[in-house]
Formats: sequence, C-alpha cells, structure tokens
Amino acid sequence: MTAPTIDTIDLTDVDLFLRGDQYDIFRTLRSEAPVHYNERAWGPGFWNVTKYEDVLAVGVDPATWISGKGIILDNDGVRTKREIEMSEQQLGLDPRGNMMIMTDPPRHTFMRQLVNKAFTHKSVRRMEPHIRELVTKIVDDICEKGEADFVMDVARLVPLEVICEMVGVPEGDWEAMFELSNRVLGFDDPEYGGGAENRTQELTPEEMQMSFDLFNYLSQLVQERRTSPREDVLSVLANSELDGQSLNDGEIFLFFLLLILAGNETTRNATSGGMLALMENPEQRQRLIADPSLMTTAVDEIVRWTSPVMHFERVATRDTEIRGQKIKAGEEVCLWYPSANRDEEKFVNGDSFDVGRSPNEHIAFGKGEHFCLGANLARLEIRVIFEEVMKRIPDMELAGPPDKLRSNFLNGIKRMPVTFSPSAKVN
Ligand code: HEM
Repeated sequence: MTAPTIDTIDLTDVDLFLRGDQYDIFRTLRSEAPVHYNERAWGPGFWNVTKYEDVLAVGVDPATWISGKGIILDNDGVRTKREIEMSEQQLGLDPRGNMMIMTDPPRHTFMRQLVNKAFTHKSVRRMEPHIRELVTKIVDDICEKGEADFVMDVARLVPLEVICEMVGVPEGDWEAMFELSNRVLGFDDPEYGGGAENRTQELTPEEMQMSFDLFNYLSQLVQERRTSPREDVLSVLANSELDGQSLNDGEIFLFFLLLILAGNETTRNATSGGMLALMENPEQRQRLIADPSLMTTAVDEIVRWTSPVMHFERVATRDTEIRGQKIKAGEEVCLWYPSANRDEEKFVNGDSFDVGRSPNEHIAFGKGEHFCLGANLARLEIRVIFEEVMKRIPDMELAGPPDKLRSNFLNGIKRMPVTFSPSAKVN
C-alpha cells in the first residue's frame, strides 16, 4: 500500500489497524501533525492527539476535557446511536453521564468511591494465591498436549474468572460474560456481528430481547444481594447510595457492564500481546527466564508495548488549545495511547520491546481522574500468568498467524495457536 499522507490519514479506517499500519502512521503524526484534524465522512471531524505530553495534559484536566459526552470513536455514525438507544429503551438511562467511565467530577468522584476499595493494591494483593492456583490449573490443562490456543486456553480465562468472581457472577454464567464482552466490544469485527456492513441502522427485535434478558438477569442478582449481601462488588453496589439515594437497577447495570467489559478484554489482550512479543523477541524471553527479578519491569513493558486500549476520547468544554492548535468548545479529541507510549521524546528506543525497561512511565492505564480502576489487578494477573508460563512452558512458539480483532479501540487477538514441549501436570 502507499503510505497515507497527513491529508489522507484517517484513523476511523479500522482495516488500517488490522494490517498493523498504525505505528508508522502514529510516527508520522507525532512528527508532522501531533494535533491532527481527522475528517469523518458521516459527520463532524475530530482531533487525533498522539504525543505523550499532550495525552497526559488532556487526561489531568477534566474541567476542560470531559468524558460525559462519550469516550469511544464513532467510526461509522451508527454505533453510538444504537448503543444510546439500547440503553435508553432498556434502562431509561443514557450511558453518557451515567456509566462511571463516561461521567465527570463531582459525580465521577462519588461513583468511583463506591468501588475503589475492592481494587486497591491491598485488596488485590490478597488475591494472589487464588490467582496462582487458577493459573496453575490452566497450565495443567494444556501442558501435556504440547499445543494450545493461547488466547482461548490461557489469556482469556484468568481475567474472566477473576472479574466474574469479584463482581459476583455465578460460575455457570462466566462463558456468557465472555461472549457478551466480545459482542459489545467487538463492534467493528464481523465475527462478533460488528462493522457497519453487518449492522442494521436500527436495533433489531432480537438485539433488544437479548439486552432485556441480560438486564433481567442482572436485576435478579441485584435483588438477591439486597436481601442477602455477600462479599462481592454487586452487593456493594446494590446496597450503596449516590446523591443520598440508592442506586437504581439501571445505574447498577451500567456499573456491572463496565466492570465486566473492562475487566475482561484489557488484561486478556495484554497477556496475548505480551506472549506474542516474548515469542517474537526470544532474547528478551531468555533474559526474563534467566532473571525472574525482571518480572516487575516486564509486566509494565508488556502493558506499554501492547497498549491494549488504543484510545479514549474527550470533548472540550471551552475554546482552548493543545500545542498551539486551537480547538473549539464541543470538539472531540482522541487520545492515542499506543502512540504516546512510543513517543520518541519520552521513551528511548520506544519501538523495541525491553523487559528491563526502566524508567517506564507509560500511560496505557490512562492518567488523571479516570486512571484505570483495575491497574493493580491487571498487573497482578499479568505477573502471575507470566511467572507460571515462563517457568513451566519456556519454549512456547507460534504455530500459525495470530488472528487479530478488527478494531481501532482494542489491540486485540482473538486466537493464537502455539506449540511447546509437552510436560507433566503439577497437580
Ligand atoms: C492491561 C489492562 C488494562 C488496561 C490497559 C486498561 C486501560 C484503561 C484506561 C486507559 C482507562 C482510562 C479511561 C479514561 O481515561 O477514560 C481505564 C479505566 C478503567 N479501567 Fe482499565 N485497563 C486495564 C485493566 C482493567 C481491569 C482488569 C479492570 C477491572 C475492573 C479495569 C477497569 C477499569 C475501569 C472501571 C475504568 C474506569 C475508571 C474511571 O472511570 O474512573 N481495567 N482502563
């Protein structure tokens, strides 16, 4: 393909990400147009922000840059409309301004206080033995076979089980939560029914029914937690107050959806992308195996390198500027984390994967008010997975091309066939 010029760069072109062209494009943008206006065929354009310092500055100024008007790029002019319609019909609530990640202070601060405790370093650290047990079993399930699908058999299972347990989803429904998050966040991937060509403009009766079923399911769990609370996040939400009032089922539903989606897809993709990076950089893998004390820096390098969440957006509340570029009130800016995380002004050799990288002040978890609630959990899960996999399956190799998610939001891998020397179970 011919490389796009500044005038023709369009980051709503999802196939560009499927081909893996984004890193070259981000490099061009950082050097030639760090605050770049992206036209959009279906409506108003938006600004691509690709430099580290700029992504950071927007993140820490929620008075100027709000989340309450939406945070994910609408590539085709259909997705957002459908999501809002579904949420309003089902919950009587617009997710913008009501789902925590799409709220702004002071409401955001109150909402975050409700769930913070479960995700602190201290709370999460207590889960390490349980997570290790889980990983040991997952490795036991594949080790004798000498082959696996790393995504389906390893990477997806830990975040799925852990977030479902924390939230309080019964075990029999965990697979349904996996499918739910693929369907919701695979909004541009044809395999999950995504992409404008696979979607109707209006919601179909089947889609509405599925969505109502999910809401009714959740309402039942919430009702149970109101009468007999347990040690899970749903019980906290079912029995807490916001603005002096109990949360209603719709508000709890949006929280539930956020935690299930965010808890699932991100760590899964960091793990899969991290394993791919280690297989593609065998000298880095050898370094890590030879010196396990590098695991702490390796985990953050995996998160920087993969930047599993590729963007979030903000909307300007007033006329302002970034790097001298004027931005009008009401305009959208899109913060590109993988670009910020390879910015040559911040990272030495940012295009190389270095398990010992230090310092490594990446912003893959965002910055400011909305800094990732699950960062402690994600780091713990990734560390335990790689500790066990490096120890027990040190020679994992790709057995075929990874199957990538079609998305400009998640840097996702759907399947990744691997082979390795078979070994015995430990349990
Ligand atoms: C490597 C894994 C992960 C990455 C890269 C990641 C990335 C991010 C980013 C960039 C944000 C900032 C959103 C913004 O500024 O608008 C965020 C927020 C959030 N993340 Fe994560 N995340 C990860 C894992 C998790 C996990 C395991 C959970 C578990 C529940 C989680 C829950 C959340 C929530 C609830 C928010 C919203 C916080 C708020 O609005 O205050 N994330 N994440």
